Amino acid sequence: MFVVLPPILWLVQKASKRYLKLSKGIQKSMGQVSHITSEVIGGYQVVKNYGGQAYEAKRFEKASKDNLKKGMKVVVTNSINTPAVQLLMAIAMSVVVWLALRPEVMADVTAGEFIAYLTAAGLLSKPVRSLTDVNQKLQKGIAAGESIFALLDEPEEVDNGKAINDIQGNIQFNNVGLTYPDGTVALQNFNLNINAGETVALVGRSGAGKTTLVNLLTRTLSPTTGQIRIDNEPIEALSLNALRSQIAMVNQQVVLFNDSVRHNIAYGDLSQKSDADMMAAAKAAFAHEFITKLPQGYESDIGAEGLQLSGGQRQRLSITRALLKDAPILILDEATSALDNESEFYIQQALDNVMDDRTTLVIAHRLTTIESADKIVVMDGGQIVEVGTHDELIKKGGQYAQMYERDFT
Ligand SMILES: Nc1ncnc2c1ncn2[C@@H]1O[C@H](COP(=O)(O)OP(=O)(O)OP(=O)(O)O)[C@@H](O)[C@H]1O
Ligand SMILES: [Mg+2]
Repeated sequence: MFVVLPPILWLVQKASKRYLKLSKGIQKSMGQVSHITSEVIGGYQVVKNYGGQAYEAKRFEKASKDNLKKGMKVVVTNSINTPAVQLLMAIAMSVVVWLALRPEVMADVTAGEFIAYLTAAGLLSKPVRSLTDVNQKLQKGIAAGESIFALLDEPEEVDNGKAINDIQGNIQFNNVGLTYPDGTVALQNFNLNINAGETVALVGRSGAGKTTLVNLLTRTLSPTTGQIRIDNEPIEALSLNALRSQIAMVNQQVVLFNDSVRHNIAYGDLSQKSDADMMAAAKAAFAHEFITKLPQGYESDIGAEGLQLSGGQRQRLSITRALLKDAPILILDEATSALDNESEFYIQQALDNVMDDRTTLVIAHRLTTIESADKIVVMDGGQIVEVGTHDELIKKGGQYAQMYERDFT
């Protein structure tokens, strides 16, 4: 029996390697299948409007077939491996029986001893078979474990700064540069001083690096070169919680959750705010009126990604959330781009009120919304092209003046 053990172990080892490789492949192909499914369901409007059904069906079929092929390979490996191991066991048994049929070899073995031996050897085949079965599950687990641990081993956000709760809102960008991992240079040699309470507008063509710049402030991104200081402290010296609690940001891409209006506005740390504060913020952002018209008012569910609301309504909820946060630094990234002229006019007035006593960074393509800013920073290719007030820049007749003229002719 021992003679067949080495070949069995060799077979099991070969199969292990193959199972591991296939299991990794299956994880990937399964991921691909669910990725395509969620993409197509999420983007069903584009798929239908642009006749993408055939293309998406083909893409899905390819991914499914790939997944099926890999699954079949596991089955094939299994169906070869188990019988092969059993065959080796059977050969060993047959040798034993063959020897038993030769009395001259087995002279001093009684019939009882022989039967006992044969039974024991027969019992061995079941555990050996389960060894190969368990092995397959084990390798599958190892493959899954590897991808989970790869995620767990990702470096954490560095957060060893001190906690502060009251900042003035002075912001300095010193020689800040940022290159995305794919090599896109989004910002370079960016130098800017913003005094507490100032309103600074960032303008520039699409892709100039405006959103990238404001994402650096909340440490969603880290600069590749240079340093950002808030109240003369490098932002890395502040704890992430402290830093983020001091900044209210309306993102360019509105993010809403599949939850009630109330939970979307008074989100996270804001859940402690009073109802009166929430409604005051909603009124300032021109959201109160439409919210009270919803079937259950502030308790109405807004559906996945807020899709039961119009684009402008979603944007107003996002502004309400930022106003409710009432932080010393306010960042508005295209915050009013989806609004009609009338609501924009009123929200602008409400924003002008809250901008008075805090540092505000406004990004806007519609230049009317930023004329009154203390400083207008014109960016291009990740660099500053011009800085000045509206009047100064118009007088200078540079890029801003051209953009402004184009807006109004
Ligand atoms: N995650 C990313 N990875 C790689 N490159 C990126 C990433 N995000 C942005 N970029 C690139 O960085 C540059 C600046 O992008 P950014 O979003 O800051 O522009 P923007 O000024 O906000 O433009 P817009 O006015 O259209 O919002 C662009 O060239 C963009 O392609
Ligand atoms: Mg942007």
